[in-house]
Amino acid sequence: MHKVGIVGWRGMVGSVLMERMLSENDFSKVKTYLFSTSLKGENAPKYDNCHEYILDSDSIEHLRTMDIILTCQGGDYTKDIHPKLRQSGWEGIWIDAASALRMNEDAVIVLDPINGKHIEKSLDAGIKDFIGGNCTVSLMLMGLGKLFEEDLVEWMTSMTYQAASGAGAKNMIELLEQMKFFGDAYLSQRQSNSAANALEFEKNMTENFSHPKFPKECFGHPLALSLLPWIDIKMPNEQSKEEWKAQVEANKILQNKEIVPIDGTCVRVASLRCHSQAFTLKLKKSVSIERVESLINESNSWTEVIANDKEETLQKLTPAYVTGTMKIPVGRIRKMTLGDQYLNAFSVGDQLLWGAAEPLRRVLLMALKQ
Ligand code: HSE
Repeated sequence: MHKVGIVGWRGMVGSVLMERMLSENDFSKVKTYLFSTSLKGENAPKYDNCHEYILDSDSIEHLRTMDIILTCQGGDYTKDIHPKLRQSGWEGIWIDAASALRMNEDAVIVLDPINGKHIEKSLDAGIKDFIGGNCTVSLMLMGLGKLFEEDLVEWMTSMTYQAASGAGAKNMIELLEQMKFFGDAYLSQRQSNSAANALEFEKNMTENFSHPKFPKECFGHPLALSLLPWIDIKMPNEQSKEEWKAQVEANKILQNKEIVPIDGTCVRVASLRCHSQAFTLKLKKSVSIERVESLINESNSWTEVIANDKEETLQKLTPAYVTGTMKIPVGRIRKMTLGDQYLNAFSVGDQLLWGAAEPLRRVLLMALKQ
């Protein structure tokens, strides 16, 4: 049985990964070792075949006895530990949720419904680093990958609506605290002035944006009752890093020799979980909506074409419908008034599942077959 070390299993992506591994009975297929710096030496949870004690995630000596290491610990951990492990001569398989190694030439970005064959070939060829893609990139390709595979896309824009949890657990809690702050202010205003009208409430809420006690340590700004059109650092070309990832990662996953331009604006919105995206695609030729819909429907078992109908859209093309599931609904599919080759679409996906944990557990299963 392969020895699999898991690091970062208590964080948000790690917890979702553990839930998925439990529900898919993955622990019965491997000998699991859980690693943590703060819990080293303590009893491990009683999963099937799980080593009794938690090991130290900084111990190269212990890590290098693993056949496979799967980490959701974050980029700083990867940058610190991965080179030390490789320098120690470790030749195991490294599976990682963080972006640190993604664009390395000898690393594969994993999203097996799209590049499963490439992953298999890479495993056969002795590639050792398999990295999960950026969440919005993976979710976009789960929904629209088939259009790229059929070489139908000249260029694409993706305007994103990314959930607070994408910024981390603390940020998601901060959004709830911001909502509570507004909720409390609203209730107290309603109590003191039951005749207040909508604009009076709005004025009070707006004033609360700059209240000295308004909770904004993590985001730095109000997200509740607002939005934040910047995610991650600025790149030299004026994109944010989140926006930069779309083109480089999507083209790498698709193994495109000719780069398909992809660009857009990434926006943080006040949903808790799920990243949504509005797409404009310039197609290389005229393609009927029926053909587009059937390509999307047949891409994989998780995509679901949502009819361009108000009720169905509002019911199914939302974080409320998708959160906690593997569903990838794609809707608002229509030709734009810009011209016959301009296609509009919208999709939603759970960024902790298909956008992070799921591709990792699936590449783990593929690696076990080696
Ligand atoms: N970069 C993503 C975000 C994380 O900030 O939302 C993946 O969810």
